[in-house]
Amino acid sequence: MRDLFLPVLLGTPRKNRQSEHAAKWVAAKLAGRTGVETQFFDVRDFDLPRDHYGTEIGERFPEWRDAIVRADGLVIVTPEYNHGYPGALKSVLDLLLKEYIHKAVAFVGVSAGPWGGTRVIEAMVPMVRELGLAVSFSDLNFPGVASKFDSEGNLLDAAYEHRVTGFIDELVWMSTTLRWGRENVPSRFHTI
Ligand SMILES: Cc1cc2nc3c(=O)[nH]c(=O)nc-3n(C[C@H](O)[C@H](O)[C@H](O)COP(=O)(O)O)c2cc1C
Repeated sequence: MRDLFLPVLLGTPRKNRQSEHAAKWVAAKLAGRTGVETQFFDVRDFDLPRDHYGTEIGERFPEWRDAIVRADGLVIVTPEYNHGYPGALKSVLDLLLKEYIHKAVAFVGVSAGPWGGTRVIEAMVPMVRELGLAVSFSDLNFPGVASKFDSEGNLLDAAYEHRVTGFIDELVWMSTTLRWGRENVPSRFHTI
């Protein structure tokens, strides 16, 4: 079986963002997993449109579009901003639609507060459902993120080694199962 392709999307462009540490750490873990290929995307790198969303806009972002067409699943790393997600993350996700259908998504939540992005993940679920993504029930949460990494992005809490294994295991299961479904079970939504 060919490798699963599971890109990572870092969801905030904020200067000095702590989420970058979490995103890079998780991406490295995915890259190290046998049978998984990944690619790192950063909302900061998208020259987002000011006046147009919807039909055909994805063609202006071929690297992102090609990655999502090829993807079996997606990891979204999101900080919690006022119990919600960053606007830039929503804008990047809105660039595509049919490309996401029947693919898995798993969330990494990052917060200064004690809930590790639980609230922002719950806020994202109804939105990604409309994109056709299937949500993993295994999240990875980084509460009090400033104390979780040193200034160079080294993780300071060994418990995450175990947690990230379970997080990736579930995403791999869902992505494998959904790939089988896309390839073997016809759907009127499989138009790409
Ligand atoms: C606009 C804004 C709103 C925020 N709202 C929350 C919040 O609701 N809950 C929380 O725990 N932290 C909140 N934070 C703090 C972030 O969780 C904190 O900055 C953390 O490091 C993750 O975000 P970062 O990747 O931008 O650093 C907020 C930060 C910003 C910039």
